[in-house]
Amino acid sequence: MPDRFSPIGVFDSGVGGVSVLGELARTLPYEDFLYYGDNLHAPYGTKPEAEVLGYVRGVMDHLIARDVKAVVIACNTATSVAAAALRSELALPIIGMEPALKPAAEQRRGGQILVLATPMTLRLPKFQALYARYGEGAVPLPCPGLMELVETQAFDQARRYLLEHFLAYDMSTVDAVVLGCTHYVFLRPILQEILPPHVLILDGNAGTARQLARVLEQRDLLNRTGGSIRLETSGDSASVLPLMHQLLARA
Ligand code: DGL
Repeated sequence: MPDRFSPIGVFDSGVGGVSVLGELARTLPYEDFLYYGDNLHAPYGTKPEAEVLGYVRGVMDHLIARDVKAVVIACNTATSVAAAALRSELALPIIGMEPALKPAAEQRRGGQILVLATPMTLRLPKFQALYARYGEGAVPLPCPGLMELVETQAFDQARRYLLEHFLAYDMSTVDAVVLGCTHYVFLRPILQEILPPHVLILDGNAGTARQLARVLEQRDLLNRTGGSIRLETSGDSASVLPLMHQLLARA
């Protein structure tokens, strides 16, 4: 049985969730984190939903076997596909992610909000419900192939990808860009360079970290004696783990 000293499982389809992990470790420095990147099955966002649900269940089994006390789904796509089902089946706290459309809507000054995410995140009911509530002025912008450019650190290509996708928009009328995929958070420096300074760039990482802290506190599961991070991948450890360490230092 996990207790307050057990690790917190954090996972994504690959290295994107490391951006979330950085924020979690900053917010809760005395917790032990076990990060799992399902690189073998990435990307999630362009595959059939049932297939991704199967991968996510596999990751959950792996984390539960490691006796985690809570799980953070550091992936918007996996949250959209699986969070509700997993919460109905499992007793442990499961914290998910969603594109930061609500904070964007609250800060909107009458202009557009571009929501960048995987095709699956934008298609599924979870985002559709969010959009129905906070979507005034919001434009969903599916970005198939963009997570792969982060996985391979192809930042010049990512820059070209973003410039091409932004061509259709007059940025003087855009108030915010929402990073609705945890991989895209690593593209923030490029976005800051190519977007005019008035455009807010929002991600859900800080909100997720606050939510984890709240849930652990409520369930009396806060650890005050730990402080470690362990990284794992279903992919090629020799190439993926050094990249994860590098990205964690950047996050
Ligand atoms: N990092 C992921 C997300 O937040 C998923 C990218 C993918 O696997 O397609 O949506």
